[in-house]
Amino acid sequence: MSLTERIAALEEEVRTAAARTADEVERFRVAMLGRNGSVTALFEDFKQVASDEKRALGQRLNQLKQSAQARWEELKENSGTGSTAAMDAGDPTRPAAIDAAGSLHPITVVRQRIVDTFARIGFTVSQGPEVEDDHHNFSALNFPPDHPARDMQDTFFVQGEGQFALRTHTSSVQVRVMEGSKPPIRTISPGRVYRNEAISARAHCMFHQVEGLYVDKGVSFAELKGTLDYFAKTMFGPDVSIRMRPSYFPFTEPSAEVDMSCSICGGSGCTVCKHSGWVEIMGCGMVDPAVLSNCTIDPEVYSGFAFGMGVERIAQLLYRVPDLRLYWENDVRFLEQFSADAFRS
Ligand code: PHE
Repeated sequence: MSLTERIAALEEEVRTAAARTADEVERFRVAMLGRNGSVTALFEDFKQVASDEKRALGQRLNQLKQSAQARWEELKENSGTGSTAAMDAGDPTRPAAIDAAGSLHPITVVRQRIVDTFARIGFTVSQGPEVEDDHHNFSALNFPPDHPARDMQDTFFVQGEGQFALRTHTSSVQVRVMEGSKPPIRTISPGRVYRNEAISARAHCMFHQVEGLYVDKGVSFAELKGTLDYFAKTMFGPDVSIRMRPSYFPFTEPSAEVDMSCSICGGSGCTVCKHSGWVEIMGCGMVDPAVLSNCTIDPEVYSGFAFGMGVERIAQLLYRVPDLRLYWENDVRFLEQFSADAFRS
């Protein structure tokens, strides 16, 4: 590289030099003007320049030295609070700092989708207490006094005056709504429920249910089936179908267990549906006339249907989470995977 080219390169370097800290300013000075600095070296080489070129080159070299010194003064002044810092603070073209945003819990996301699905066909949301009395959790729902569900094995009893327990299902809210309002009633009640179960991959002592209740004149089983078919297709897509199997609940007659064609294998058989092609998603039935009269609704005039599902179960089928315990460990690596879904429904 000729001397002229080296001067040009250094002129450019001086012009664009930047320094944020005192250290960087000093490094600039040493690199340019120090004993072994680039500008100093040029003066050494200048000695060999032919005399007819000396005048022009000498002038340019002196200018370079002056501008390097001026730049050094400038950087010294500005480092920390000077123009580079101002640029850092105010440069609108810099990429924005991304704040780590939290996300909704997957159970919250799924519960909200269930609520939205029923809200679209006119169901309101009702809530009730988690510490419930025997009347709302059991008696009004037609549980005989010796029913095994009342057993200490299943129910967490709460000490105090009267018989209180952590509710074992959200059907207790169905009683409260019927006692407190006149038909037509069309409501769902999402909430936590508690059962005295050993915690494992498939069971937990606390989980979430959504109960549904529709009471009016002439409500039929066909409407129940149509409503649940709409629910399954809205949540899992138009290709799923449902079937009902006869079952028993003290508070519904007839009662049924609802299966859905396995949304994971499409019905051809997989480990989730245990190769049957069907997965159980909820219990349901026509509200027992005795329950209606317990809640001061005339069963000669009105009929109704009810259904109840586990939110964790629906979430498991949507997200294929194999172990229930993952939901409550609150490991952010698990929870973060659902953040996109929070904004979808
Ligand atoms: N309460 C029942 C359960 O916890 C579910 C259910 C609700 C069944 C309403 C029928 C009608 O298993």
